[in-house]
Amino acid sequence: MADKLRAGVIGCGSISRNHVGGYLNSGRYEVVALADLNESAMQDVDNQFRINTQHYTDARAMLAQEKLDVVSVCTWHGGHATWTIVAATYRPKAILCEKPMADTLGHAEQMLVACRRNNVKLVIGHQRRFLPAYTLAQSLIAQGAIGKVQLIQSCGGDGLPNYSSHQTDMYRYLLGDDECTWVMGNVERKTDQYERATRIEDCAMAVFQFRGGARALILSDLVPNYYQGALIVGSEGMINMTTNNLQLMNRGTGGQWQLHQPDGKFFKVEEQGDRFEWLEGGAAQADELADWIEGKVETHRGRGESGYKALEMIHAVYESARCHEKVVMPMRTRVNPLDLMVESGHLVPERPGRYDIRAFLLRGERMASDEEGAQIQEQP
Ligand SMILES: NC(=O)c1ccc[n+]([C@@H]2O[C@H](COP(=O)([O-])OP(=O)(O)OC[C@H]3O[C@@H](n4cnc5c(N)ncnc54)[C@H](O)[C@@H]3O)[C@@H](O)[C@H]2O)c1
Repeated sequence: MADKLRAGVIGCGSISRNHVGGYLNSGRYEVVALADLNESAMQDVDNQFRINTQHYTDARAMLAQEKLDVVSVCTWHGGHATWTIVAATYRPKAILCEKPMADTLGHAEQMLVACRRNNVKLVIGHQRRFLPAYTLAQSLIAQGAIGKVQLIQSCGGDGLPNYSSHQTDMYRYLLGDDECTWVMGNVERKTDQYERATRIEDCAMAVFQFRGGARALILSDLVPNYYQGALIVGSEGMINMTTNNLQLMNRGTGGQWQLHQPDGKFFKVEEQGDRFEWLEGGAAQADELADWIEGKVETHRGRGESGYKALEMIHAVYESARCHEKVVMPMRTRVNPLDLMVESGHLVPERPGRYDIRAFLLRGERMASDEEGAQIQEQP
């Protein structure tokens, strides 16, 4: 075990399974410690993976005692900045924090600062960058298989930050990390709706323009059947992509849809079905992180700066609705513009009464947040 990286996890809920499973399936990590406010949450992880970890109800105690190489941050969105900044001060080699990167762009920026200050590698968990169908679509586009990309059409739901930060990250991945130059969008928010303690809209739509000329469209909570993936329309063909496979149509396919279902590095779609994207994404994301730590690759495709841009594009939709304008990137407003709109009285819910669509994830008597009052401890 000596050559394996020592990993610990803060927040042992649903997505922590993808981190622990990913570390173990990559074969390059030992999961040695877990931190959660609930002992039962940590015990459930140990039982599921048949591991025997140290448990901490105080994440700072875990960081102080365990000398971790890698720390996973798997709390709700509002805790991402707090725990990434705290973990960075203990100088692990890397932090793998869940998406959306933070609750505000200002906090996301602080996460980048804290990691740079402490020489810590930061990755945001947009694990779909590791799906072979996504990577194949990226290389087909780069080879010109569908000509110039004209429109990436996608849909989402359950609010923009949670589901659609994967989609905004996907646009950039498909386009070789091209930069978004402007965003125009609108939101409707009649109810006081939250998702994992983050204020969300009832529905939204937006257009994203990229430097290379491509455009993307998102319809969020506007269509009943939404999925991760996209219909990519080019000047000389189309790609219809899901998390498991893609179909290509161009002159070379004789105008017919041609199915491609590439295998992952660790798993195969035909063997895993719907579990494939989670198993492959988690393992391959962890594997590339180990490569980055060991200097085998220069960077990680989910590095913090990419996570920042995925969040920036989401918050630019809110900023566009707030300012009634096309938001030119980079965005300069560092608070969450949806919060600003509601708190300033610009967008008051017509049907009051706060509710959280992910409240079912909470344990015990909690109803509103996975943690009350997470604070960064400022030095006097
Ligand atoms: N990458 C993906 O595809 C994907 C999928 C699901 C969730 N997520 C993200 O993962 C994050 C967590 O979501 P989830 O569904 O796992 O939530 P969850 O409610 O299932 O788990 C969160 C856990 O964090 C714990 N926690 C809260 N404060 C803590 C603290 N101070 N110290 C230690 N533990 C603490 C809670 O007790 C809880 O067990 C969210 O930001 C979500 O967007 C990402």
